[in-house]
Amino acid sequence: MAVLPILRFGNPILRQKSKRISSIDGSIQKLIDDMIETMRDANGAGLAAPQIGKLLRVIVIGLPGEEPFALINPQIMKKSGEREVVEGCLCFPGYRGKMKRAVSITAKGRDRHGKEVRLKAEDLLAQTLEHEIDHLHGVLYIDHLQGEDSLYRIHQGETP
Ligand code: NI
Repeated sequence: MAVLPILRFGNPILRQKSKRISSIDGSIQKLIDDMIETMRDANGAGLAAPQIGKLLRVIVIGLPGEEPFALINPQIMKKSGEREVVEGCLCFPGYRGKMKRAVSITAKGRDRHGKEVRLKAEDLLAQTLEHEIDHLHGVLYIDHLQGEDSLYRIHQGETP
């Protein structure tokens, strides 16, 4: 496993669309392991493959105290409710933004073994899934801000 460099805002790769994975082979397994290690090293709750320069539809999620998992070709099937959240992104260290996200979502995709999974998520898990799946479409959290004062700096040294 390896910790990979995370692209920063301004890198044009972050605005491109990622490709669907057709076969989950050893290179995808390695990508998932590297993404999990990179996410942990950066104290992130999630990471999408374009953030490390790979335009592939793979995300990893690792909420505090929970086992990290990967979702391949993830898709949001349903969203419901709305709540105001504060969000950050490893591509924008030192910043947070205020926006609205769904209260609950239903997503589907494949796990790292290729098994089809469907998950119903709420609150932080729903928010993280929305954020990471956005990355696969070239969408960044700043696109959801409600106004200029919705983005603010935090002290360096806090988790991203
Ligand atoms: Ni992000």
